[in-house]
Amino acid sequence: MISEKMTDALNTQIVLEGYASFLYLSMATWCDAKGLEGCTSFMRRQSEEERAHMLRIFEYMSEVDAHALVPAIQQVPHDFDTPQKMFEMVYAHEQKVTKSINDLVSIAKAENDFTTDNFLQWYITEQREEESLMRSILDKIKLIGDSPMALYYIDKEITAINTMELKKEAAGE
Ligand code: FEO
Repeated sequence: MISEKMTDALNTQIVLEGYASFLYLSMATWCDAKGLEGCTSFMRRQSEEERAHMLRIFEYMSEVDAHALVPAIQQVPHDFDTPQKMFEMVYAHEQKVTKSINDLVSIAKAENDFTTDNFLQWYITEQREEESLMRSILDKIKLIGDSPMALYYIDKEITAINTMELKKEAAGE
């Protein structure tokens, strides 16, 4: 059994992961409307990943006999201006998630809750990888530029990155 404080903190994390899933789904539909097929696939896959992150917490809370709460669906933005601004928003959200995970680990350590600490280590690794991925995408976009003509090349780059991510997923990485 985990503490009430930890239960509340994990429920807050569920809100963040669920919000990310809907935010990235909204980004996928925005990209789709702009004809950016690579970005659409990338954001759809990211959206599914975030849903999986959320469900993982539900499963853990069930295992430790804590009550996981299904969060309200918060309204997400519908317009993202440019792919660069969109990925800047993704990066900012991932940084927020990382901070939240770090706070959870701090609570677990303070409470000598080794089980939850152990559970959270997967998220620490995941966040490091996600932040690194988003930073590398932003670096590429900055190199290519964000003009209307550059959009084609940005989409091609994101297609290649998405293919790589799918291969990693298939390999269980
Ligand atoms: Fe699950 Fe990318 O935060």
